[in-house]
Amino acid sequence: MTELSSIDSASRDPWVPRPTRILRRKQETSDTFTLWLGVGEGGAPFAPGQFNMLYVFGVGEAAISISGDPDVAAPLVHTIRAVGTVTGRMQELKRGATIGVRGPYGNGWPIAEAKGKDVLIVGGGLGIAPLRPVIYFVLRHRSLFGRVTLLFGARSPSALVFRSELEVWRRRTDITTQVIVDHAARDWTGPVGVVPALIDSVPIDASKTIAMVCGPELMMRFTARSLLRRGLSAGDVFVSLERNMKCALGFCGHCQYRETFLCRDGPVVRLDRVESIFDRREV
Ligand SMILES: Cc1cc2nc3c(=O)[nH]c(=O)nc-3n(C[C@H](O)[C@H](O)[C@H](O)COP(=O)(O)OP(=O)(O)OC[C@H]3O[C@@H](n4cnc5c(N)ncnc54)[C@H](O)[C@@H]3O)c2cc1C
Ligand code: FES
Repeated sequence: MTELSSIDSASRDPWVPRPTRILRRKQETSDTFTLWLGVGEGGAPFAPGQFNMLYVFGVGEAAISISGDPDVAAPLVHTIRAVGTVTGRMQELKRGATIGVRGPYGNGWPIAEAKGKDVLIVGGGLGIAPLRPVIYFVLRHRSLFGRVTLLFGARSPSALVFRSELEVWRRRTDITTQVIVDHAARDWTGPVGVVPALIDSVPIDASKTIAMVCGPELMMRFTARSLLRRGLSAGDVFVSLERNMKCALGFCGHCQYRETFLCRDGPVVRLDRVESIFDRREV
């Protein structure tokens, strides 16, 4: 029995991380990288918007969204920004290293609800990572959706993740893709400003649009305001909230707000259910 498969049987326990190998690693920007993880036979099915707890052995765990294609269960893809203890150590791991995974957790984006409607996807910074599975899904099942629009912003051109894919999507005629940066470099020919500014520049039929928004909370707040101004109801706007997660199983209460456990009932939530917690760091 291999080292990995012997531990694998224990990993059915939701508390126990499942050891997986890093099959591939790509540096996306100076502080952000994508890992492809070997999850064995059958892969790891997930819904767009769900997250895993990734464990660096001997260091700790962090909640990380799945950024890959939901129709491709293996390998498992995560895009990570090195910001602290766990993600900083994760950035040092090379291809072939072992990492612990438990999940997937959370509810995901409202894909079923979006069928037959226009889909407006709005990402800021690394907020594009949990939205990328939606983009893959919608493009793969294109006839199920109306107009599809992707608005994406980053601090600068060098901070844009998935740049080559953005270029491919920008050239497609079945999705409108607009990318904006806060601060331009010399080679940047696109718009400069913040993501909410793009919302006024695209056609939106508020009567049949579902918006999915992920990014820094300030960006989501202003984006939500712009969407409401364009006529969307708060019930048609979905945001993904990042809060401090520990168990991810609805036990510890670290992510709790009133009756909502964001690890279990989120991280994707309807705007009208969370308007009041938008400003709080710990809930
Ligand atoms: C549902 C969900 C999905 C997520 N998806 C992703 C994803 O796809 N990709 C991703 O990169 N992240 C994602 N995150 C965020 C990620 O879980 C957090 O950034 C996590 O805290 C990283 O763990 P860490 O140990 O590396 O950072 P921590 O050490 O916990 O640091 C987190 C923050 O605290 C600050 N900090 C750390 N130490 C100190 C200190 N001593 N003094 C002051 N500030 C400090 C850091 O600068 C950083 O901003 C997600 C979070 C959630 C809840
Ligand atoms: S992280 Fe423990 S209850 Fe949500």
